[in-house]
Amino acid sequence: PKSVGILISGRGSNMMALVEAASDAYEVVVVASDNPAAPGLAWAREHGIPTFALSPKGIGKAAYEAAVTGALREAGAEIVALAGYMRLLSDEFVATWRGRVVNIHPSLLPKYKGLDTHQRAIDAGDLEAGCSVHIVTEELDAGELLGQTTVPIEPGDDAETLAARVLAEEHRLYPRVLADFAAR
Ligand code: GAR
Repeated sequence: PKSVGILISGRGSNMMALVEAASDAYEVVVVASDNPAAPGLAWAREHGIPTFALSPKGIGKAAYEAAVTGALREAGAEIVALAGYMRLLSDEFVATWRGRVVNIHPSLLPKYKGLDTHQRAIDAGDLEAGCSVHIVTEELDAGELLGQTTVPIEPGDDAETLAARVLAEEHRLYPRVLADFAAR
């Protein structure tokens, strides 16, 4: 299997889905976070996965990212999977891991890059929403699309109900796409 390092910032439900679906295609070798209090870190530790936590506050982005790259390399990561990682990666980080960083985003890209995706889809009157997995490049949420799942937007949906419907599909989509990506 390919070795995958996962970056999270919070809850980590996509990370959990990736860990639970690990197979012949990929294994999760480290979970790293910019937020030492991220709930997902405790879950990873309890599941025997090495973790790395460091806040960029005080040390600056370059030193922080260099430390993350160090932790990923030490763990032997070949692929970096962003899972609810809420910071922009620098051009330098993207160059270091060129073509080997993937991300899940809660919209039907190229629609609704950035934040607040569900409310924006509802406000636009869209009938469908969804999630996308893509390769990370220097441009936000714009790299090669690897997979996408569509869900309906139901009458009466708010951002919370729609997010829950999309999230359930994220948990199916990401492991499948990561396994395909690891095999290519
Ligand atoms: C997920 O919906 C993910 O797609 C989104 O944050 C949530 C994280 O949940 N990511 C982004 O918005 C990236 N810009 P999780 O921590 O439970 O996986």
